[in-house]
Amino acid sequence: MSSPRSIIIDTDPGQDDAVAIMLALGHAEALDVIGITAVAGNVGLPLTAKNSLKLLELAGRTDIPVYAGASAPLMVPLETAEYVHGETGLNGWTFPEPTTALRPEFGPDFIVEAVMSRPPKSVTLCPLGPLTNIALAMAKEPRIADRIDKIVLMGGAQIEGGNVTPTAEFNIYVDPHAAARVFNSGAEIVVMSLDVTHQALIKRAWLNELAGLGTKCSEAFVGLLSFYERYDEEKYGSDGGPLHDPTTIAWLLKPELFKGKFVNVEIETTPGLCFGQTVVDRWSVTKRPKNATWITHVDADGFFDLILDAFRRLG
Ligand code: BDR
Ligand code: CA
Repeated sequence: MSSPRSIIIDTDPGQDDAVAIMLALGHAEALDVIGITAVAGNVGLPLTAKNSLKLLELAGRTDIPVYAGASAPLMVPLETAEYVHGETGLNGWTFPEPTTALRPEFGPDFIVEAVMSRPPKSVTLCPLGPLTNIALAMAKEPRIADRIDKIVLMGGAQIEGGNVTPTAEFNIYVDPHAAARVFNSGAEIVVMSLDVTHQALIKRAWLNELAGLGTKCSEAFVGLLSFYERYDEEKYGSDGGPLHDPTTIAWLLKPELFKGKFVNVEIETTPGLCFGQTVVDRWSVTKRPKNATWITHVDADGFFDLILDAFRRLG
């Protein structure tokens, strides 16, 4: 059996970020989470960092180091999303205060150190929030772009339209300048945008199955996800809200569940109506160099089975 792939999860938990973390931890035979870097996004940095610690404690994985990263986007004021995730970022379940501490290093410094000290192409980055930490790491050490294996990120939208403006998705909108830097870095990038995550809807029957596992983690996540999906169900008028961030981890575990296309993606950073838009050149009309695999389809049943499987293993 091959050794697990080393990943760094860069995150702003967030209930869907939380599921992504659990999905990775529940498949430890395939994925080795070598560190978690927190970024400001859904809520402010003090909370996203604390939430990362809380999640690792729930999963019994306090061996994984957590680093606080950027507390604000590169060039614009931080916009948060308590209206989706609640004021703690993890409303829906009451966690005990964490007893473990953050590591003292700055998140982007950890990313640089981890990537540069390990063999080339041996670390994968999974950003689940605004791309500020990744851009700062690339600014400090541009060689990481070539040295990482790939970046599998959640962000952006084309066909589905935006969720914070008509054209922009939250993670890219919050820090478009960081996103522009990352998309133009030359790193191999796989993108889970709203075009695909809007196919991954949390159904009540699935939540019942999760509840049926009867474990500590499953109980917590039924609470978290029931809170989380109330907002999107109302917004989209759908049966179940989209579970965005775990699609990144699922792609690493089972890429055969997904379909996509290698395209050019540019980020709109000019202030105005389309600020933060991912401009996807689906049909190569610009002839700009292709820089990202834009995922367009997911087998939703296979995706949700994989998550249940992770919770079964976590206990
Ligand atoms: C993204 O924004 C956040 O609210 C979610 O955690 C996800 O990363 C979806 O637009
Ligand atoms: Ca997120």
